[in-house]
Amino acid sequence: MDEQKTAVTPFVEIRHVHKAFPIQPNTKPAPVVEDVSILIPHQEEGEFVAFLGPSGCGKSTLLHMISGLLSPDKGEVYALGKQVSGPDPQSVTVQQAYTCFPWLTVLGNVEFGLKTHGVEAVERRKLATEYLHKVGLGDRLDANPRQLSGGMQQRVAIARTLAMRLPIVLMDEPFGALDAQTRADMQETLLHLWQDEKNLVVFVTHDISEALLLANRIIVFSARPARIIYDMLVPFERPRPQSLLYDSQFLQLSQVLIGLLKHSEATTSDNTSTSGN
Ligand SMILES: Nc1ncnc2c1ncn2[C@@H]1O[C@H](COP(=O)(O)OP(=O)(O)OP(=O)(O)O)[C@@H](O)[C@H]1O
Ligand SMILES: [Mg+2]
Repeated sequence: MDEQKTAVTPFVEIRHVHKAFPIQPNTKPAPVVEDVSILIPHQEEGEFVAFLGPSGCGKSTLLHMISGLLSPDKGEVYALGKQVSGPDPQSVTVQQAYTCFPWLTVLGNVEFGLKTHGVEAVERRKLATEYLHKVGLGDRLDANPRQLSGGMQQRVAIARTLAMRLPIVLMDEPFGALDAQTRADMQETLLHLWQDEKNLVVFVTHDISEALLLANRIIVFSARPARIIYDMLVPFERPRPQSLLYDSQFLQLSQVLIGLLKHSEATTSDNTSTSGN
């Protein structure tokens, strides 16, 4: 893609997308994503968009349609100007696993991701080493993941995802299961890396503070079927320290988002989904 085209081609464009699933076996498909349109323009400095919405509303389904793992029933999805018709390993990375493969070394874990993308051995070693240094694990390259703390293993997983250096990175609740301190640590690591990458991260989370701390833009979805109920530009400068969590404007925006989520959960007619990431 030439430079001029890159400058004007949106990272992602979702046009009037619909998706339905039979929520119970042998039932008629029920809408899960309903007429969602999102334009994420290209930004020189990269873009960070959070998807926020109640459990089971359809966030992962939407992410899968961006990655090409699922196709919409109606509507179109474009990634870097190209209509998505299946997974494209050259433009979109989905963070698949948030932990390590225990049978590989730390370095091997990051190299593995690159190998699946066809990166040759010398380059794999160079990139994996570089990204492990970036996440602060430069001195643990030959360690077995079992010798690392849970937080360190997560950093390996982040290095594995970002070392692929693809323009679009999709992360589905990557820090959901972590304790507060490790989560704060991972948020910082991710932001630190993202600032150099200048790519698009689409980050699904249930956590309002996490969305406000990380994202430039937060898209809030209704309970199933997912419809956009709010599209918020986050006003905070970067870098964003964890102390921002106590800032009065931050707390005020949190309240707005809490209100929206409560309202969307209360107005759903059927919130008994069994969803998964
Ligand atoms: N392959 C599938 N077949 C049938 N139903 C599905 C399928 N994938 C998702 N669903 C249903 O679609 C709805 C939305 O699921 P999805 O996983 O997208 O929600 P989510 O917003 O990511 O939820 P969570 O926040 O809990 O991860 C749920 O009711 C789920 O059970
Ligand atoms: Mg999900």
